[in-house]
Amino acid sequence: MRPTRVRTAALAAATALLAGLAVTPAAHASTDQHRAGSTLAQLAERTGRYFGSAVDNPELSDTSYADLLGKEFDATTPGNGMKWYATEPQRGVFDFTAGDEIVDYAKSKGLKVRGHTLLWHQQLPSWLTSGTWTADELRSILKNHITQVVRHYKGKVFAWDVANEIMNEDGTYRENIFYKTIGPSYIADALRWAHAADPKVKLYLNDYNVEAIGPKSDAYYTLIKQLKADHVPINGFGMQAHLALQYGFPDRLRQNIRRFADLGVDVAITELDIRMVLPSDATKLAQQADWYGKVTDACLNVKRCVGITVWGYSDKHSWIPSVFPGEGAALPWDENLAHKPAYGAIHDALASAAKED
Ligand code: G3I
Repeated sequence: MRPTRVRTAALAAATALLAGLAVTPAAHASTDQHRAGSTLAQLAERTGRYFGSAVDNPELSDTSYADLLGKEFDATTPGNGMKWYATEPQRGVFDFTAGDEIVDYAKSKGLKVRGHTLLWHQQLPSWLTSGTWTADELRSILKNHITQVVRHYKGKVFAWDVANEIMNEDGTYRENIFYKTIGPSYIADALRWAHAADPKVKLYLNDYNVEAIGPKSDAYYTLIKQLKADHVPINGFGMQAHLALQYGFPDRLRQNIRRFADLGVDVAITELDIRMVLPSDATKLAQQADWYGKVTDACLNVKRCVGITVWGYSDKHSWIPSVFPGEGAALPWDENLAHKPAYGAIHDALASAAKED
């Protein structure tokens, strides 16, 4: 087990900020210069991992944003472009335009792509949600959807979030349309159909509020253990990690990552952002930096934690303000694409691990 690293520069800056001491712009400039040698992706690669950012299609037209994404990261996840409403807007009629646009962009920049997501209770097309289906009908619809989409992206995505957000907070199954109509067997079947369509792609279950050890992550632990025992193809567990300063850091994150790895699956941090109640200030930004460093360290401490993806990399494009009014500033780059203290904390954690490997 790798010892906890001291995230020197970022921690010093964070401590100084927390202590109310002035960190001069010159100090920021020198630490930034010191970090300028390597990107997050280059450092992550030296540890055998990737460092990615989600991107939504309209953001590709923001050229400075898309250019920086292509330089700093080595993986991307379409924020919306591969969801069911986009890929099968009418029954049996597939549209891969949005997903393909991101795959093409990623290829041109040398980024690999995480597929997101084959089934979710949100962003389903209305033909699906407004229909009345028997279990057999819905099973066949789901099988066809998964088969067509996975086949289309075969060799183009390295992983799929096969099932997204299928558990409630108390660890019971979410009563989505698939559960209500088919029952819990839809999960194993979805994994089997995805595997049949692309035997090489890594298949994940993915959810939020599963970073801490608690009823929801326990439910996934039990489910994945059972799926493995039943020889169902499951390769990974995705922890979204939509964190918020006001709710505290997830309890025993590192131990939680390790227990899933010990089940024989990969773990990925798939949608990391750390929001705060606005306005942001130096103290909150320092705490945020510390948390970004801690999440990075927790992943780096477990060999099977294969990579980290931030859910967009800059406050310029983030889902948070529209969903949580009065909250935001959640990402390591600000609205002007300038580094925040969080960037330094991630960079230092990766650099320290890269040196050890
Ligand atoms: O496409 C329409 C557009 O035609 C319309 O003009 C516009 C007006 O609001 O809305 C557009 O749809 C938006 C869509 O993103 C595409 O931009 C929806 O309103 C908006 O709600 C939707 O938000 C997405 C959200 O999932 C939906 O719940 C976010 O961009 C996306 O980042 C977010 O991602 C999810 C992950 O998939 C799963 N985990 C949680 C994460 C954050 O919610």
